[in-house]
Amino acid sequence: MTTTAAPALSLTDRAAYESAVEQALAASAAYYGDGETTLDDASYDALARGIAGYELAHPEHVRADSPTGKVGGGVAPVGEVAHTVAMLSLDNVFDAEGLVKWDASLARRIDHPVAGGYAVEPKLDGAAMAARYRDGRLVQLVGRGNGAQGEDLSHAIGSIVGLPTEVPGGATVEIRGEVLLTRAQFERANEIRAAHNAKPFSNPRNGTAGTLRAKDRPYTIETTFFAYGAVELDGAGFLAGAGGSHEAVMARVAALGVQTTTATEIGLRVYGTLAEAQARVEEIQRLRAELPFGIDGVVVKANDHAEQDAAGSGTRHPHWAIAYKLPPVEARTKLLAVEWNIGRTGHIAPRAVLEPVEVDGSTVTYATLHNPAFIRNTGLMVGDTVVLYKAGDIIPRVEAPVVALRTGAETEIPLPEACPGCGGEIDTSGERWECAGGASGGCGKLPALRYAVGRDQLDIDGLGVTYLEALVEAGLVDDVADLFFLTREQLAEATGSDKRADALIGRLAAAKEQPLNRVFCALGVVRTGRTLSREIARHFGTMDAVRAATPEELAEVKKLPAANAPKIAAHIAALGPVIDKLVAAGVNMTEPAADRADAPGSRPLAGETVVVTGGMHGPLAGLNRNAMNELIERAGGTASGSVSKKTTILVAGEGAGSKLAKAEQLGTRVLGEEEFATLIADHLA
Ligand code: IVH
Repeated sequence: MTTTAAPALSLTDRAAYESAVEQALAASAAYYGDGETTLDDASYDALARGIAGYELAHPEHVRADSPTGKVGGGVAPVGEVAHTVAMLSLDNVFDAEGLVKWDASLARRIDHPVAGGYAVEPKLDGAAMAARYRDGRLVQLVGRGNGAQGEDLSHAIGSIVGLPTEVPGGATVEIRGEVLLTRAQFERANEIRAAHNAKPFSNPRNGTAGTLRAKDRPYTIETTFFAYGAVELDGAGFLAGAGGSHEAVMARVAALGVQTTTATEIGLRVYGTLAEAQARVEEIQRLRAELPFGIDGVVVKANDHAEQDAAGSGTRHPHWAIAYKLPPVEARTKLLAVEWNIGRTGHIAPRAVLEPVEVDGSTVTYATLHNPAFIRNTGLMVGDTVVLYKAGDIIPRVEAPVVALRTGAETEIPLPEACPGCGGEIDTSGERWECAGGASGGCGKLPALRYAVGRDQLDIDGLGVTYLEALVEAGLVDDVADLFFLTREQLAEATGSDKRADALIGRLAAAKEQPLNRVFCALGVVRTGRTLSREIARHFGTMDAVRAATPEELAEVKKLPAANAPKIAAHIAALGPVIDKLVAAGVNMTEPAADRADAPGSRPLAGETVVVTGGMHGPLAGLNRNAMNELIERAGGTASGSVSKKTTILVAGEGAGSKLAKAEQLGTRVLGEEEFATLIADHLA
């Protein structure tokens, strides 16, 4: 599933080589200057690999200042602090085959296959740092520099989350790890910089580099530290009692209160076999999109210290560890225009129209710009080169402009003065702008209706946007409940066909029988979607109980963030008249008894985490993924999209492929469609 992250550039003659070296040097110099580079990571990697390839073929042309073979490309600030133990870099592989080769060479070096297990942890995308603790106090921070000497970064003490200024037990040790800006810290950093008229950081990594280097700023930017190792300091013997493995050392580091990756869901795990390590790499890659910080790979290390020592290190990297690089999830492209769209709850959201660019396996043309405050904080302009982020299934987003690449031809982004939907007023009091008419009154009306009739809500097939628009314009429909009062004549008029009207009458009658979770979902309550609607319906059972719930009671619903409960409760109350109309229309307001959280003895999937793959047939025919997930949750299970160690059941339909292979590899229980249908028979409608 992984693809090559950076194909090497092919340099055909000496002139091309010379110019590539110049380009690489300029880019690293800029990066180590103010943190902003003119090249993105993937292009830099491709350039560096091209240079290395040319040098292999033409050793006589190698320039003394070539970045090849130098930590930080040879232009990292050297700094004044000597490292006690060299701060090395990591060698890279790009696929499973590369990992196997690394393992084989490791086995050769230590004279036997790795026996002490493989430690697998994220390759955090920030800046390397050594934190020196003496007698329990954080006394000095040192950057990587050229690996032998680093710059003193002690001015950052106190602004780094995860790096306490004091640790228990009077420990003396040097802890090594990565400093980074989490997504939230990056957004906050650009807000702070905007308030101080400083140009925005184009992405979290550059922001980290710039932040660590700056000494005399009138503001403080908070960063985060994750430890990935430790070395002895002053011969204090901290590691001596640490059990002889990477895992044990990291546990000791964590016990000091210093943050390690174990605090995250992709944190350090140790596996006995390389196949398991490879599976974990793929799992981390799948989780990547949703992480609160950036990673650019996964690091696999021999866990056992004796095996690490036997393997040894080269001048640049240790032989006992390898970075498995993941494909880039960032790209640079041009912002061509900004569109303003209206969401289902009436909010007005800016969307970037981009010069199409390939990132993480798909071509991206649009990306979210979040809200007007984001545009203000980043100072984004039309015509800017922007950093785009897209991983997995998340909505692509613009990180920030690359201000260094401005030409002067960029223009300001016009903010809408009137609601783009209805031309009415905009409520600009919050961070998100809303049509002053609100979701039900204003122009959020149409998106809300489209959502309500959607396949995963009331499933009123055939009621497309054109007909909905006609019904709204004719003044017949204001909200979802009005749909159930339409006459055959009105439907025929709006759709221009008696036949369509008859079909719709049938679909509307069927919609009245939908379970509460779908009816609730159709209301489009803020901060809720399909999953939460199912949880709310299961928890309360009836619409009356949902309406009577206080914010505190709502906060008890599984997966519902307590902070959102008051907003949800307020919106449910505001929807009172719509709900009353739905009741009057005869729409079902209960969740089937067997599906409720308190239903006795009918939770065959209680405690199970279930993944579905392949096409469904037989008793499950026609159920799409959402419908299968509904079914799993009704039967008490947790539905998930990907196979991991947590998965307890894989339902394999026709054409099951990689997920089935993965489940078999992990020894997960695999059920055919028939077997699964029998298991949850009580819940099949
Ligand atoms: S181990 C001697 N582990 O990646 C071992 N490095 O490309 C050297 N990095 O300089 C480092 N996450 O700044 C290690 N889990 C991790 C890491 C990690 C990020 C960085 C580190 C290093 C660079 C090498």
